[in-house]
Amino acid sequence: MTSTPAQAPIAIVSAMHAELAALLEAMPDEAPVRLAGRDFWCGHLGGQAVVAVLSGIGKVAAATTAALLLERFGARAVLFTGVAGGLAPGVAVGDVVVATELLQHDMDASPLFPRWEVPLYGRARFAADPALAGTLAAAAARALAEPHATLGAEAVAEFALHRPQVHRGLIVSGDRFVATQAESEALRQALPEALAVEMEGAAVAQVCHDFGTPFAALRTISDRADDSAHVDFQRFIDRVASHYSLAVMMAWLGMQR
Ligand code: ADE
Repeated sequence: MTSTPAQAPIAIVSAMHAELAALLEAMPDEAPVRLAGRDFWCGHLGGQAVVAVLSGIGKVAAATTAALLLERFGARAVLFTGVAGGLAPGVAVGDVVVATELLQHDMDASPLFPRWEVPLYGRARFAADPALAGTLAAAAARALAEPHATLGAEAVAEFALHRPQVHRGLIVSGDRFVATQAESEALRQALPEALAVEMEGAAVAQVCHDFGTPFAALRTISDRADDSAHVDFQRFIDRVASHYSLAVMMAWLGMQR
């Protein structure tokens, strides 16, 4: 597919079905293009050309999705939305983390390369695009300012989301759902700067780095990556994260005009 920069879509990559469904409901003209077992939904959102897709779960699935978005759809920017486990002490369920940089916490080719360094890239961390991440954080602050308006009073009460915060910093990714106190403590010890853990972001950041395409990621904290990380996970996504994602994306797209 060839597209001029003016027509090139913005890619919105969702980690979860409920998030993508919320986006598709808000797109007036979405049409699927099926490639590599994935549906890429092309259309418009907030007046902008977008392509919306599920990342798939884990780093390889997400990297394939990202490569297709960039190579086949000519995406001019990639925005990732999903959920993550909170690691740093102040990062609570219902807060949002916008990545400034991303790292694969399970990458370890030592002693050939320093721990976490991606071999032959000379780096462990991939930076989010500062301008994109800045506007995403501003859009998140706007969407979270009134959780009642975004989620409804019932969800706010159920998940005790009275003052959700927007954090900015390091997100770490790996092919594990972190669901024990011991494992999240080990990550905190090894990577004290890490705000949150998930399973795809650093892979998409690496692919965007390869293509020179701006990338940003936003994650709603669904759990604390501890022994109760799986409890009500799906309910949180349905009731909270999918609504936040849509509200943030709409606010962000509105800021691009
Ligand atoms: N996504 C949401 N919660 C997570 C966790 N605890 N570990 C990895 N990915 C996650």
